[in-house]
Amino acid sequence: MSELNKIATKILDNGKGILAADESTGTMTKRLQSVNVESTPENRILFRETLFSSKGMTDCIGGVILFDETINQKTNDGEKVSELLSKMGSLAGIKVDTGAKQLAGSPKEKITEGLDGLRERLKEYYKIGARFTKWRGVYNITKDCPSKLSIDSNAHALARYAALVQECNMVPIVEPEVLMDGNHSADECFNKTSVVIKKCFKDLILHKVDLTGVILKPNMILAGTESKNQISNEETAKLTIKCLKESVPNEVPGIAFLSGGQSEVQATENLNLINKFNDTNFIMSYSYGRALQQSALKHWSKDIKDIKGTQMIFDHRAKMCTLAAQGKWSINLENN
Ligand code: 13P
Repeated sequence: MSELNKIATKILDNGKGILAADESTGTMTKRLQSVNVESTPENRILFRETLFSSKGMTDCIGGVILFDETINQKTNDGEKVSELLSKMGSLAGIKVDTGAKQLAGSPKEKITEGLDGLRERLKEYYKIGARFTKWRGVYNITKDCPSKLSIDSNAHALARYAALVQECNMVPIVEPEVLMDGNHSADECFNKTSVVIKKCFKDLILHKVDLTGVILKPNMILAGTESKNQISNEETAKLTIKCLKESVPNEVPGIAFLSGGQSEVQATENLNLINKFNDTNFIMSYSYGRALQQSALKHWSKDIKDIKGTQMIFDHRAKMCTLAAQGKWSINLENN
């Protein structure tokens, strides 16, 4: 096994998943404002260290994706964030793209930026403790989207990113997110997600990326949020597995889904069914942002000093997700 493969499988070992706590300052400000908490650097690290020091981290969370601000912050006790995570048994990851911008030539679509100077930034992140990274390409579904231009240019960027990350001995999370927004059918989501993922792997191979040292972070197959033809969770699980089986090369060790706007319980239930039906060699786990943090954030916002209460809520969510990553979750456990 290569070193990168060891890191990738360690992060997703035995039902463990990833906490995506890499909201940019802009996104984190929106999240905090939605629960009436002022978005200051102090409040941002306070919420995050409340989660990072929680008991559930050790059993459930193999890796945490951080934003640049957070990986450079210290906790209330003066500890480096990467050291706190390592003490909790979790690896530090870092979001290295600089965001999705309007795609020239197709202004309704986005291209993710951040390749300039990336090699130098990666070396710095490695020095301060990061062992894996994330880059998110984003695609919307309409009649004509995602366009070939968006599919090709985002795949190219993801491949160049992944090659640079591996050169720096870190595991790249490759995240092509096909959004849930819109009134498209689940079949359209299936077809378009398949094309997007296949193109990503074609480019990863072209750029000589070691696929045994990559984690894919895809969306699940769902009908658009405004579609009248929603599908069952069983259908989502089966279509998601079919899509990944057809689109992802066998060497890839792990897949960690994003939650993408699903509720906490829906994201958990779908992951559980995916694991019940999983007839592939891929580890199928989670890399959730909102579906791990939403309830904890709501509780915390009522009393930001209630560390224990917030941690209990986060621990429960992490435990439910880890059970789902093993196909052992059931709805009855939600209320215990
Ligand atoms: P969500 O689980 O909230 O979609 O966030 C995952 C993520 O990291 C998106 O880039």
